[in-house]
Amino acid sequence: MKHISIAIDGPAGAGKSTLARQAAQRLGFLYVDTGAIYRTVALKALESSADPADPEQVVPLLDGLNVKMDHGPDGGQRMFLDGKDVSDAIRQHRVSGAASQVAAIPQVREFLLDFQRRQAREHDVLMDGRDIGTVVLPDADVKIFLTAAPEARAHRRARELELRGEKADYETILHDIIRRDEQDRNRPVAPLRQAEDAVLVDTTRLNLEESLEALLAAIKERTDR
Ligand code: DC
Repeated sequence: MKHISIAIDGPAGAGKSTLARQAAQRLGFLYVDTGAIYRTVALKALESSADPADPEQVVPLLDGLNVKMDHGPDGGQRMFLDGKDVSDAIRQHRVSGAASQVAAIPQVREFLLDFQRRQAREHDVLMDGRDIGTVVLPDADVKIFLTAAPEARAHRRARELELRGEKADYETILHDIIRRDEQDRNRPVAPLRQAEDAVLVDTTRLNLEESLEALLAAIKERTDR
């Protein structure tokens, strides 16, 4: 039986991972957070004292890279690097910038492509990222482009970091979000952009519950779920 796949793309901080995880749970689909996979590769680079922006230092690390993904009872995705649970470590601020840098390296993207497509072959998936609807799953049953104004995203990220007890300066976060958006949108390989057949969901003025409803409505309209 063919599995159903839902692709959710959009910039950082639009609420993608929280919403995608909750939507996947409601639908009984496997949630795949592809950003977490790039973050794990970035952590490997940082731990190896490699410059995440330098392909010559990052590409050799792919050989023998030991990255695994698992899902908890709440549907949350856990990442393992060399057998160690790095699910919290990859959320550090320094890893975000490094992830955006390793994600611009074509060999890294190519390396992760099979891994991501295999998930969609084996399960009903709801996959979130930057290039899911455009590159990874161009035939996805539903494509959503989830976005929000940079200021709204910076406020959310600041609150998230505060809740985790990390330092959170709004101006710095806003600046980083804008820079990371630019980096993700302007890279030559698989840039962040809305697929032509994707539905736009803008969460700037929506709270979490409203955003989830908007997302589920868009999915329901295009599938029988
Ligand atoms: O969604 P996130 O913030 O965890 O993603 C981290 C970085 O990884 C982000 O800057 C862009 C990159 N990324 C990507 O290029 N393609 C994806 N499918 C997912 C993430």
